[in-house]
Amino acid sequence: MARKGKVLVVDDEQGFCELLESLLQKEEFQTVSTTDPIKAKELIEREDFDLVFLDLRMPGCDGLQLLRFIKEQDENVIVIIITAYGTIEAAVEAMKYGAYDFITKPFQKNDLIRLIHKAWDKRKLLLEMSQLRAEIQERYGFENIIGKSKPMQDLFDLIRKAANSPCTVLIQGESGTGKELVAKAIHYNSPRRHKKIVCVNAATLQETLLESQLFGHVKGAFTGAYKDQKGLFEVADGGTLFLDEIAEMSPKIQAKLLRALQEQEIIPLGSNTPRKVDVRIIAATNKDLRQAIKEGTFREDLYYRLSVVTIRIPPLRERVEDIPLLAMHFLKRYAKEAGKEIKGFTPAAMELLCSYSWPGNVRELENVIQSAVFLETSEMITTKSVNYDGRLSSFSYQSPRTIPQEDEDLLPYAEAKRKFEREYLLRALEKCGGNISLTARKTGIIRPNLYKKLKKLNISVKRN
Ligand SMILES: Nc1ncnc2c1ncn2[C@@H]1O[C@H](COP(=O)(O)OP(=O)(O)OP(=O)(O)O)[C@@H](O)[C@H]1O
Ligand SMILES: [Mg+2]
Repeated sequence: MARKGKVLVVDDEQGFCELLESLLQKEEFQTVSTTDPIKAKELIEREDFDLVFLDLRMPGCDGLQLLRFIKEQDENVIVIIITAYGTIEAAVEAMKYGAYDFITKPFQKNDLIRLIHKAWDKRKLLLEMSQLRAEIQERYGFENIIGKSKPMQDLFDLIRKAANSPCTVLIQGESGTGKELVAKAIHYNSPRRHKKIVCVNAATLQETLLESQLFGHVKGAFTGAYKDQKGLFEVADGGTLFLDEIAEMSPKIQAKLLRALQEQEIIPLGSNTPRKVDVRIIAATNKDLRQAIKEGTFREDLYYRLSVVTIRIPPLRERVEDIPLLAMHFLKRYAKEAGKEIKGFTPAAMELLCSYSWPGNVRELENVIQSAVFLETSEMITTKSVNYDGRLSSFSYQSPRTIPQEDEDLLPYAEAKRKFEREYLLRALEKCGGNISLTARKTGIIRPNLYKKLKKLNISVKRN
């Protein structure tokens, strides 16, 4: 038989304890009982109980104090108060201190069975929720934002400060740098963490839809609005609203958003009545908002409202020291997921990862590692698996190093020549800051030939 929860019965009447225990056992619960409040305290300290039946009136014991003690040990324990007829007020008082329900002596067997199953369902739900909360906490804790470089250390400082302040935050960074991760870390480390973080991406919804999503609508506001619908501002009330890709918002929505920020209230579509909301806004963009202001596509006043705290996440190429850490982090995650025992990277593979410019930033690195884990058959990730699609062989401006070789055995002449040419040209490009004309002049190779060679050698350069 499947084991159900563990129940503690605390009542000064031995006979009552026995009766309750036998009923609970028939319902497959594991039980412990005591008539002594001091013993009860010891048991609660020592063992984990799912449910506690507690008599509030026992000689030499303040029942409410014992209740508080139980809740301090584990706030998710379900406490059911046992009360005698005439002491119901005390039981009601106990519910204010976190008791779940009460039963009155003498009780109907069926009532008790119904109550115990309801309580057990509640306990399971609370455990599930606290498990989920722990998982979220773990996923969005600072520990999960990987990075030891100076820019990342500065970023951690800022995130911590932002988490502790109620200010609006603007996160700027290229695609894949971790804007959403940072937004969630701020929320889950802020005093609002027990409330929701609601994410909405302004780039994926067309204007009217976004407007009604954000601010809600009343019945009949537009064709298809059959009933009142709460907007995300209200859904996130007490919590955080993460507005992603903020630069994509239309002027009309920008105006409404500005109003919501200024007044702390929203007006649903089709309504005239403002509703108060208490929402912390975190906005993100991979666009240069100052530029957007100059171009007239983004309101300056909104920008100042949003950017009370501005967090810029540097692109990965500006923090190459973080690449090995991130690579190991993703390797561990995906190897575990795939059930593979992969210990690390060969030095050549790691060097290759560090020499690439990562235009897709951390997300691209994550994808590359995930594929490499999938492809790898040995216990170290090799250059072949990280560079399965050849993308890492392309020349990068920021960190133009030569492509490392897996082994340095004597190469056939043609291959050695190619290798030399490649390294020579990469070095030349590096010295010339990636400028093709200058490289052509310095190496004495005419421009069209230089382009041809670079192409043949799989060195890609952005034309400037
Ligand atoms: N410093 C980091 N440590 C660990 N994982 C990271 C880090 N930065 C980003 N990631 C991971 O990289 C992926 C992309 O991050 P995220 O979605 O937060 O980026 P983004 O900036 O919102 O991207 P986009 O602009 O494309 O929406 C996620 O899987 C995230 O967990
Ligand atoms: Mg994002």
